[in-house]
Amino acid sequence: MKYKQEPIFPKGFMWGASSSAWQVEGGVNEGGRTPAIIDLNSRKKAGYADNSIAADHYHHYKEDVKLMAEAGFSSYRFSIAWPRIYPDDSGKVNQEGINFYSSLINELVAHDIEPIVTLYHYDMPVWVDEKYNGWYDRGIIEAFDQFVRTCFVEFGDRVKYWHSINEQNMQICYGDWLGISKNVETWFVDKWKVNHIMNLCHAKAVIACHELVEGGKIGPVPGYVPIYPYSCDPNDQIAAMNAEEMTEKMWNDLYVHRKYNTFIRRYWEENNIDPDIRVGDMELIEKAKIDFISLNCYRSNTAKYCAEDTEEVPYQLNKSGVKGNLTFPKVPGMYQLVVNPYVETNDWDWEIDPVAMRYMLRYVWNHYQLPMMITENGYGAHESVSEDGKVHDPERIKFLRDQIYQVGLAIMDGCEVISYNPWSFTDLLSTGNGMSKRYGLVYINTTDKDVLDLKRIPKDSYDWYSKLIKSNGKRWE
Ligand code: BG6
Repeated sequence: MKYKQEPIFPKGFMWGASSSAWQVEGGVNEGGRTPAIIDLNSRKKAGYADNSIAADHYHHYKEDVKLMAEAGFSSYRFSIAWPRIYPDDSGKVNQEGINFYSSLINELVAHDIEPIVTLYHYDMPVWVDEKYNGWYDRGIIEAFDQFVRTCFVEFGDRVKYWHSINEQNMQICYGDWLGISKNVETWFVDKWKVNHIMNLCHAKAVIACHELVEGGKIGPVPGYVPIYPYSCDPNDQIAAMNAEEMTEKMWNDLYVHRKYNTFIRRYWEENNIDPDIRVGDMELIEKAKIDFISLNCYRSNTAKYCAEDTEEVPYQLNKSGVKGNLTFPKVPGMYQLVVNPYVETNDWDWEIDPVAMRYMLRYVWNHYQLPMMITENGYGAHESVSEDGKVHDPERIKFLRDQIYQVGLAIMDGCEVISYNPWSFTDLLSTGNGMSKRYGLVYINTTDKDVLDLKRIPKDSYDWYSKLIKSNGKRWE
């Protein structure tokens, strides 16, 4: 539908940006923090910088919050590093870790910025990984519960919006890349057991939040990639639905309806997969009623029919940042992903598709009727400081303008959206490309090769975004 007026964002709409602990903080050996499984990810997988310094937010958080406030932020979505709170197996809380987050939260609150906290964003303590074989052993459920309960008790007086696990679906779909699968060979089967344990952890967090945080609200953060059928061939439509089920819908159905949907149960039966659902598990999940759904959305995908006798092809994400290095998957009998001729792509072959934002919000609202926030959305690029000492990022401004406009249209369509937090506030480590793929509204002066002075340089997009949000979504120029 075309509206007679520009989109209107509701009063009190929360505008901010997003980060995660391991990607932004640095200070990995400070304040009593011990290693996390993700610590070496970038360097190990592709030779980029690791997170020992990252954006050094650990030492610059006051300056960073000041910049957020100057831009007019009313929210900031970040995560708490589990190994800062429980650095070892002793069961003893690390007071220095509590103090760090408490101080960050105080700083935000003092500047009228709503803290929106994610409890798990890939940084499992190494001691948990060693003791429980990562997410494979049910012992992790109690350890996670202890961690999240501590966070609710310590910060729940000031933090009212919580997230359980970041992109559980992506961690399961890309277990190897995000460091949670232990054996690529058996992941096809193992992932459903791991996924079930994650669901139990999510459920415990939801229940504990409602028990311990007065007025606390909590939701999941699926990584969402809207999927279109390649054509009006009915088989392409079914392929798109299959891709949707296997990469996102079954997770969202579980969070909202609190049971596994029939599609995935039939899939397990057909493939002789036992997700190890034990007595009492589904009763626990049933109690975990979420308050909202948060969505990380960067791109869209397009699916096409894939015959049973097609040779299987695994998904190879583009890790080089040179266009043309992505291989779409073929899943025989289910779907294959293909190039969408109607959309542009970035240097990592990610589709640039603003309409997908409106489509996703409409889809999720139609299916689940829960308030939604955008917790990630952004434009990753190779960037450097210009000769004039500034960072000019017109592509990011265009990306954000187009995407936010579509959020506005979705709101006009009747969707309840409460907050928009693009990835990311400052530049920070990309999951696979270190500092070479920058997303920030604020440039961090450092590179993968050399640690520079870490100066914060607001990019042109920072100024543009600031004007837009100070006008509550009215100043688009
Ligand atoms: C999201 C993750 O999936 O995508 C973030 O929650 C991540 O942690 C972001 O950084 C962008 O992906 P990438 O690989 O470009 O860093």
